[in-house]
Amino acid sequence: MLSMPEYLEQIAATRDERMSWWREARFGMFVHYGLYAQVGRNEWLQACENIPPQEYEALADTFAPKEGCCREWAALAQKAGAKYMVLTTRHHEGFSLWDSKVNPFNSVNYGPHRDIVREFVDACREFGLKIGFYSSLMDWHNPDGAACAYDPQARRRFTKYIRDLNEELLTNYGKIDILWYDVPEPLQHAEGWESLERNQYLRSLQPHILINDRSRIPEDFGTPEENISPSERDWEACMTFNGISWGYLDSAQAAPYSYSPQQILAMLQTCTERGGNLLLNIGPMPDGSVPPETVQPLTDVGRWLAVNGEAAYGKFTKTYGNTHQINGVSRSTTKGNTVYVWNKIWAPHNGKMAMGGFETAPRSITLMDGTPLSFKLQGSRILLENVPQENPDPILHVPVIKMEFDAPPVYRFASYLPQLHQGHSPDTAIL
Ligand code: GLC
Repeated sequence: MLSMPEYLEQIAATRDERMSWWREARFGMFVHYGLYAQVGRNEWLQACENIPPQEYEALADTFAPKEGCCREWAALAQKAGAKYMVLTTRHHEGFSLWDSKVNPFNSVNYGPHRDIVREFVDACREFGLKIGFYSSLMDWHNPDGAACAYDPQARRRFTKYIRDLNEELLTNYGKIDILWYDVPEPLQHAEGWESLERNQYLRSLQPHILINDRSRIPEDFGTPEENISPSERDWEACMTFNGISWGYLDSAQAAPYSYSPQQILAMLQTCTERGGNLLLNIGPMPDGSVPPETVQPLTDVGRWLAVNGEAAYGKFTKTYGNTHQINGVSRSTTKGNTVYVWNKIWAPHNGKMAMGGFETAPRSITLMDGTPLSFKLQGSRILLENVPQENPDPILHVPVIKMEFDAPPVYRFASYLPQLHQGHSPDTAIL
């Protein structure tokens, strides 16, 4: 077994090759589905309502995912323009959605008597989606999930249990692309979890797999949750669809809080501009149906990506600070010498619109359907002329303006306003 430094060096050496598809994919769909969906009060129901274990366990008998629910998820993910899906194979409740010989509390022994993970994997492959398994380290059903914190025997049993569960998942379902750990509680260190040994072993089963940062080892990518917070490393923002619950919440309560397609676009734009991915969640209904309030927004985002996906998918220049702020709130993504402006405000005045800060003239400016836009470089801005009054994007009214330069453009935001560039700070200001 490699030491931690050796392991970290080894996975760093293969990361670019392993992650190239993921870095270009940009957009994944998270699926939180488990016994908790039957109640519809969040996936932490058992803990938050302090439900006695036996009472909660009874939900396993009534768990009834409809036939074809995994295909429904995959079809929506594909329609939305997502390139991968991550399914909660076993959430904190400890119920395995697969034919587990390690965990008898599973969807073959109870409820549907079906291997949902198998159906999920088959659906992902049918719809051309990469496959991710969410795997909670926390377990409320296995008593060792708590005892491991203070009983050495229980810790050894539980870490073996976690290893065996994930061995089943990464052995029995063909090529798996992502292992998405969650909540490494109650043990506080990678050593306690034996994550170094387990992750090395699991990688030997699936050499190309990507592992997230939630087994107390940084592994391949960070996982900001419910916020889009970029970092220098690879990162993926995981977001509920409504800011309330990962697990099912009925539409009447979820819909008012659910994201519009424009809000999803804004998240995708930030992820693209700043070198991350968006993992947007759906919490299927008790029978596995897709929550109705997610369908139209995801479908519209997919229609938009079908036209403008070039501005989101693929290899982009990663930026952190203020990059191109155009016409107020519009932002851009940059691929080589091409700048894509995700234009939130289309309001030509006398047929003109400007993109301030640019001090280099592009070779061409077009809409994504190839329509050329006439322009000139005027001081420190690109002045578009004869701009059509009608918003060119009939889908979400966020037209992308594609600017192709011969070299990375020189850009200084609001260069005529030095007060925006003098880096004032309270302790240096004299007035
Ligand atoms: C938090 C929640 C968990 C959810 C996860 C998704 O860890 O505890 O319920 O699955 O976020 O990232």
